[in-house]
Amino acid sequence: MDRTMIPVKRTLLLDDSRSSVYKAAKIIRQGGLVAFPTETVYGLGASAADADAVKKIFTAKGRPPDNPLIVHISKKNQLADVARSIPDVAGELIDKFWPGPLSLVLQRSENIPPVVSAGLSTVAVRMPDHQVALDLISFSGGPIAAPSANRSGRPSPTSYRHVLEDLSGRIDAVIRSSVCVIGVESTVLDLTGSQPCILRPGGLSREDLEAALGCPVSLAGPGGGLDLPASPGMKYRHYSPSAPLILVVGPVGRRKQLVNFLVYRYQRKGFTVGLLNLSSQGSLKWEVDPEQFAAHLYRLLRRLDEEGAGVILAEEIETEGLGLAVMNRLRKAASRVIRV
Ligand code: TXA
Ligand code: MG
Repeated sequence: MDRTMIPVKRTLLLDDSRSSVYKAAKIIRQGGLVAFPTETVYGLGASAADADAVKKIFTAKGRPPDNPLIVHISKKNQLADVARSIPDVAGELIDKFWPGPLSLVLQRSENIPPVVSAGLSTVAVRMPDHQVALDLISFSGGPIAAPSANRSGRPSPTSYRHVLEDLSGRIDAVIRSSVCVIGVESTVLDLTGSQPCILRPGGLSREDLEAALGCPVSLAGPGGGLDLPASPGMKYRHYSPSAPLILVVGPVGRRKQLVNFLVYRYQRKGFTVGLLNLSSQGSLKWEVDPEQFAAHLYRLLRRLDEEGAGVILAEEIETEGLGLAVMNRLRKAASRVIRV
């Protein structure tokens, strides 16, 4: 956990009425930080044009300075202020998927200060599919730079309560609104290379992108063929509950056998064992309803912590559709991956 000292201030809790969102926009215009809902997860926003405000995001989250932020816009034509050039392929994807959980990496315009992109010459941009987020951006008068509104390394927030758990006293305001329907972050797609490449799987599936583009889309990172993490954020351990998470991968029969053994062993040692996507988990099972499972993944991780789990066990899932994003988050959250 990061120990950066920042002055404690009162974090204003705002509802999502028009007048409150207007108040939040004023805070952004004045260089403050506001956490706001999107369809994926809550974001921690600052004016993207204000380098000093953007620096405060890194401090509040304890975020490594080399991990760039996503710029959020409320109208498609704002993209021309954020990106230096817009390739044809971006136009097609925007028509099809914006507003929505797709962040496009393009060449950064000079209107966007380097700190937003952690010094990179590129910028990630998206238009969120949430009216409160769109109003906040439009009332604030310009694009909003926002990472997820969690302390660095923690599961992303899908409710204002999660934001307050992590950031109360460190940010100016949070807008209380409906829960985030998708529940995992946007897909980050790099369009600056010779071929579109997924840097981070997310709420828009690889299959949907491939169908729209009419060609295979590669996946960066281990297994995707790149040695270095192309999306700087992907090299850090992430999305982690406080309790260690053990992820069991391999053929289903052997997986179940090991999980049963681990439950027995940890319980004998006096641990409370948290089970994530396993059969004993009531209605929220990946196999039963993948979309609901994804929507609740981060809430489940936080809840297992609250319930005092000493260890959390999770099983591998299929990496089709949303499964690619969920499995990516489980791997990043895991302190240990056991292959059977
Ligand atoms: O759904 C989302 O994307 C949420 C909501 C708030 O919009 N935001 C979010 O932001 O998840 P964050 O900061 O937690 O994740 C941004 C990811 C990181 O993996 C970062 O490295 C990558 O996007 N990224 C941002 N700018 C980039 C760039 N110029 N090149 C490569 N990767 C970039
Ligand atoms: Mg994040």
